[in-house]
Amino acid sequence: MVGSTGKPSSGSIPRTFIDDLLNRTDIVQLINARVPLKKAGSSYKACCPFHDEKTPSFNVNGVKQFYHCFGCGASGDAIRFLQEYDGLSFVEAVEALAAFNGVEVPREKLSPQAQAQQQKARDLYDLMFQVARFYRQQLKLHARSEEAKNYLRQRGLTSDIAKTFAIGYAPPGWETLLTDFAPQWGESSDLAKHLVDTGMLIEKEGGRRYDRFRHRIMFPIRDGRGRVVAFGGRVVSDEDQPKYLNSPETALFHKTQTLYGIYEMRQSRQRFDRVLVVEGYMDVVALAQFGIRNAVATLGTAVTAEHLQTLFRELNEVVFCFDGDQAGQKAAWKALELALPQMQATRSVKFLFLPEKADPDSCVREEGVEGFTRRVDQALTLSAFLFKGLEARLSQPLSTPEGQQQLISLAKPYIAQAPEALPDALTQMLSDKVQVPVWRLGKIMGIRVAGRYRPKNEVAEPLPRLKVQSKVLRLLKILTCYPMLSKGVEPGLFENLQHSAHPEHRFLVEAIQTLLENNCLAEALQNWLQAPRRQRAVALMDQITLPASKEGVVDDFQFLIQQLQKDLLQPGLVKKTDDWSMEDIATWQAQQKAQKLKEP
Ligand code: UTP
Ligand code: MN
Repeated sequence: MVGSTGKPSSGSIPRTFIDDLLNRTDIVQLINARVPLKKAGSSYKACCPFHDEKTPSFNVNGVKQFYHCFGCGASGDAIRFLQEYDGLSFVEAVEALAAFNGVEVPREKLSPQAQAQQQKARDLYDLMFQVARFYRQQLKLHARSEEAKNYLRQRGLTSDIAKTFAIGYAPPGWETLLTDFAPQWGESSDLAKHLVDTGMLIEKEGGRRYDRFRHRIMFPIRDGRGRVVAFGGRVVSDEDQPKYLNSPETALFHKTQTLYGIYEMRQSRQRFDRVLVVEGYMDVVALAQFGIRNAVATLGTAVTAEHLQTLFRELNEVVFCFDGDQAGQKAAWKALELALPQMQATRSVKFLFLPEKADPDSCVREEGVEGFTRRVDQALTLSAFLFKGLEARLSQPLSTPEGQQQLISLAKPYIAQAPEALPDALTQMLSDKVQVPVWRLGKIMGIRVAGRYRPKNEVAEPLPRLKVQSKVLRLLKILTCYPMLSKGVEPGLFENLQHSAHPEHRFLVEAIQTLLENNCLAEALQNWLQAPRRQRAVALMDQITLPASKEGVVDDFQFLIQQLQKDLLQPGLVKKTDDWSMEDIATWQAQQKAQKLKEP
């Protein structure tokens, strides 16, 4: 059998062996063999092999057995270095390091069940490898493959690139795979079952089985290590439907984690500073045909967080190429939302929107490598795309206080979840757009940003008058001026508020409770509002103006209470104790406790 998985050994490697291996390795010697190092003080230096630079910021520390690049942030131990530099998996890196030290890698004994599972996976990978090879042969030999070859030629693909991507051809018959493979596998083998398990055969009720892919151009989908995990099959004639057929989810293939072209990108053995994410198989292949080897494609699904993790493990800059249409914009926004929490300082994500009806394939053909590359260079940065998207959602122009208020509240959740220094940069951009100083924005949004405190020499500018919609905040504002009104909240409403699913409602309950427990002293409420996590509410309350007369305020109060009562009628919002499960109560108690602890 043709193995693609290497040694049949593998139980897991004992952690103690790995620690021992790292202890006995000299990282300086290891790296020096690949990247010549120069001694600098107590450590060693070189120009970083992981990014382009002219002055050395790559440091290797022999004492700590650690490397670190101050330019791009790459860092790790000897194993990590081998993974990154030689493009190895963790296990492969351990094996390489063991070989470097002249020792054998021991394996922990697996349970019989785990062994069987591993054997099964190996069998499936082997089978997929053979199927891919078979489809390759059929592209060369099959009587009907001429149509497929013509099609590929007409799309401008050379046989070289077809070989690089192992593009093949699935013949038209319904039982091609079983017929062709049976002689090698023998009667009693698991062939049919394995073919079903890899998704190559479709099994109908009653046991009828037939080839999933017939008369299609076949794109093997390989994982990062080159193992064939699935196929995409394209119709030969554009009249046929559906245009692409993909393998289903199997033990080997998980769409949400797999990127087409990642293995081929690694195989190109080129160093890239960014990876392009495109939508189609043909986009990846066509770009490669033009020498652009750093493109990968999702497989007819939206980008996932797992995709992003894989991409960032590969390179620090990810450029998404989307169609210029509505769907492309939506997909891009989803990618942005996924990327934001993963944005470490060294990483960058960009968005390229192609003209309507164009895809990277057609674009590179029309505009050439130069034209296409220029577009990639001009792709929108994450922050530019973020604000562009948010501004497009405003119902009022950004020149008005309302528009500015909207932008602040739209931007807040995005800024809040950005890691490291990104919130500072985004708040600065927001500040430029809404003309509110950064420190003030930090306060309004309740987000810790650099320059959050008002500089001594800066006068607090009045904020543009904003419309605060929250009934609860308005009620609170009223209570700060007329705390006695808290007595007017009837017990039924109070109870409903207490059990509301809306956090704002419970916020109000706490405020009222504070007043009731303290003889309606305004100071008590003021004190309660001092807590840091209530600063955002305070900042917003600052924006609210109340009617000038006491009668006006009381009217306002009663009106708001009525409104609140109506809101609480909303089904499902109020959960009475009777409806609470034990878990609900436990969660609630835990929350209460956590909140108590947070109180200053
Ligand atoms: P496209 O239709 O843009 O693919 O669909 P493409 O690669 O540009 O196709 P051609 O060959 O140039 O016409 C993008 C991706 O969506 C998935 C495939 O993964 C495809 O590469 N798709 C598309 C399907 O799964 N099924 C379909 O019927 C169409
Ligand atoms: Mn296309």
